[in-house]
Amino acid sequence: MQSDLIQQKNKKKLIKNFEKVFGSNKNLSVFFAPGRINIIGEHIDYCGGKVLPAAIDKGTFVVISPSSKKYFSCFSKNENDLVNFTSKEISAKYPIFWVRYLMGVLQHLQTKTKTSPCNIYIEGNLPLESGLSSSASLLLVLSWALQYLSDFRYNENDFENRKQTALVCQKIENQFIGLQCGIMDQAVVALAKQNNVMLLDCEKFELEWLECNLGEDTFLIVNSNKPRSLIESKYNQRKQETDQCLLWLQRKMQITSLAGIPTEQLEEALSFIPVKTLQKRLKHQVTENQRVKLAYQQIAAKDNIGLGKTLKESHLSLRENYEVTGKELDLIFDYSIQNKSVKGVRMTGAGFAGCLIVLLPKNEVENYQNQIQGKYQAATGLKLSFYSTTFTQGVRKI
Ligand code: GLA
Repeated sequence: MQSDLIQQKNKKKLIKNFEKVFGSNKNLSVFFAPGRINIIGEHIDYCGGKVLPAAIDKGTFVVISPSSKKYFSCFSKNENDLVNFTSKEISAKYPIFWVRYLMGVLQHLQTKTKTSPCNIYIEGNLPLESGLSSSASLLLVLSWALQYLSDFRYNENDFENRKQTALVCQKIENQFIGLQCGIMDQAVVALAKQNNVMLLDCEKFELEWLECNLGEDTFLIVNSNKPRSLIESKYNQRKQETDQCLLWLQRKMQITSLAGIPTEQLEEALSFIPVKTLQKRLKHQVTENQRVKLAYQQIAAKDNIGLGKTLKESHLSLRENYEVTGKELDLIFDYSIQNKSVKGVRMTGAGFAGCLIVLLPKNEVENYQNQIQGKYQAATGLKLSFYSTTFTQGVRKI
């Protein structure tokens, strides 16, 4: 329970910070939502595939209290910005981008229950726009805090409530923020279990848990520190490309999603796609689904060598077929596979920049970091950041 101890310590600090902005208050509640890594199953959630993410112990904190004012007040520590707005101002076009996340949550909640003005303090320790799901973390922590405050369906231990909250947050991301993302991030941030990875069937929203014990090895997160914005990236284009593949295939095959194509039928399916680039996208979809199954078995069998190989194959497919890795992630991948202690490495999240995960022995982490930092800096002028991983549980009151 190391991570919960850290959070109790954080709580006092967070309350102090809240009080600096809004004055002292006895009626405060504090919430935390984690970020996530995805072990494998990339860019397949929006095509109905199975994914294998886990929540990490970095995330977003919210301190909230009811207020007697006639408007909502929200302070973001990361943006160093205090914003006040009334219910009437809520809009997906609000000029301050980070406030739209809160507005999306409020707008949804107002269709279900009465929401009263409140003071909200937000602080996060996840790197933003880096593939660790800062967006889902923010949406989930705000939803959880506001459900609690408005006494709407709030129940820490109810699976169905967590699932519905995840689905609502995905909808807000799709409709309010403009990213046509799948359900992976919101689901794992809502439902994650300590020390476990979550196998999520994104078409049926069915979960299986698998305890992740890597023995002498660990997953290290490597942040390329190359800024990127998903909304401006080719993410939505990949979604459209795969929607187009499905339309073509449904004329010939009885499938409800791309995840329904077995590996044995890949060649046949490819012959129904008239555009070469889209054939590559389909190839990634079908082979990645297969790799998720394999990785799940390898984690269960504690076969870290096999798992590492599967991770590398995933990265290569995301690079060659799906074209979402980008120069920085590929450089780190190439440097990493030259290091003999590294068992596996791949980008995690949407890609285009952001983070990778590296599977390597715990006692080699320092050597690896020293070795790769210099090379990367010389090639790009950027400095890498490294984070260790502890798999934690989903959004919660602390
Ligand atoms: C982002 C999206 C997810 C998923 C990943 C790629 O994190 O929010 O829905 O598509 O990219 O696997």
